[in-house]
Amino acid sequence: MTEIPEHLLKRSKAAKAKASGEAVPSDDTSETSATPVAAAAQTPAAPAANLPNLDPEPEPAKPVPAFVAASQLRKRIPIWVMPVIAALPIWAYSFAGTMQQPEVEDVLFVDAAIEYNSCASCHGAAGGGGVGLKLSEGEVLQTFPEPIDQIAHVARGSAAIANNPYGAVRDDGERRVAFASGGHMPAQAGALNMLQLELVVFHERAVLSGEDTDSEAYQEWMEHMREEIESGGLDTAASVDNIDLLLACANPEYTPGAIGVGPADDSQRCPGPGEVEEGAEEAAAAE
Ligand code: HEC
Repeated sequence: MTEIPEHLLKRSKAAKAKASGEAVPSDDTSETSATPVAAAAQTPAAPAANLPNLDPEPEPAKPVPAFVAASQLRKRIPIWVMPVIAALPIWAYSFAGTMQQPEVEDVLFVDAAIEYNSCASCHGAAGGGGVGLKLSEGEVLQTFPEPIDQIAHVARGSAAIANNPYGAVRDDGERRVAFASGGHMPAQAGALNMLQLELVVFHERAVLSGEDTDSEAYQEWMEHMREEIESGGLDTAASVDNIDLLLACANPEYTPGAIGVGPADDSQRCPGPGEVEEGAEEAAAAE
């Protein structure tokens, strides 16, 4: 903002006084002695009198342009977009669904994995071993060529056969000896029912150790477990009270104390892929 020089203000007062007939303020005389040229040089612009009021006027609000006003009135997102936005997550979900292969959930594998959780603390989630022996990469298949002997071993535990050899001759030419690993396998007969026992053994063999499941007998066993699961077999009391049945079914070559003749009672079946039943049929045919 331009300052109005002091002397100009004084001269303005003097001019006004002169016009109204008042006495010129005395101290103005020295000022007026300045040469007109100098005065002119100092005041190039507006005449001394009638100086405009330089206080800035309050600016009037600018009128809002029509297009801005229209934009302010308009709703930000058109209403018809709302259902589209609401449907986006559904679309995203279904789109993601088309990106992957349809997954068929097999209760057998799902529940077998769940049951195996109680073994994982000692044998490892993937069967790699720990406190318990390694079961993966075919290890458990070396000890137990057939599921039934493994089922009997898990049910009975290793304390029942302490220091006895069990299982088949392994790749290193030796058989396992109970307790030789420094730990013992806790008996599961009181903790699991027969279906659960079959499931953990199935998981250890087929899933963790990659056993071939293609044979008809094996597929029948898997189907049997599926049916048992679907008819509520996992809800029944967790107790295998019939170790005798397991010993009747297991192979005496691999399982100490086993008989290997199959169930005495026709209403019972041997757990596992039913190899013993076939053997029993052969035996019956030979008689
Ligand atoms: C408290 C730890 C512990 C738990 C829990 C446990 N095991 Fe074991 N398991 C062992 C030990 C230790 C051995 C070796 C025992 C021995 O040397 O006599 C073993 C041995 C075995 C063997 C024999 C393997 C071979 O090649 O000789 C199998 C099969 C087995 N366990 C299955 C199971 C299953 C199935 C479960 C769950 C239901 C389970 N274990 C839970 C500690 C455990």
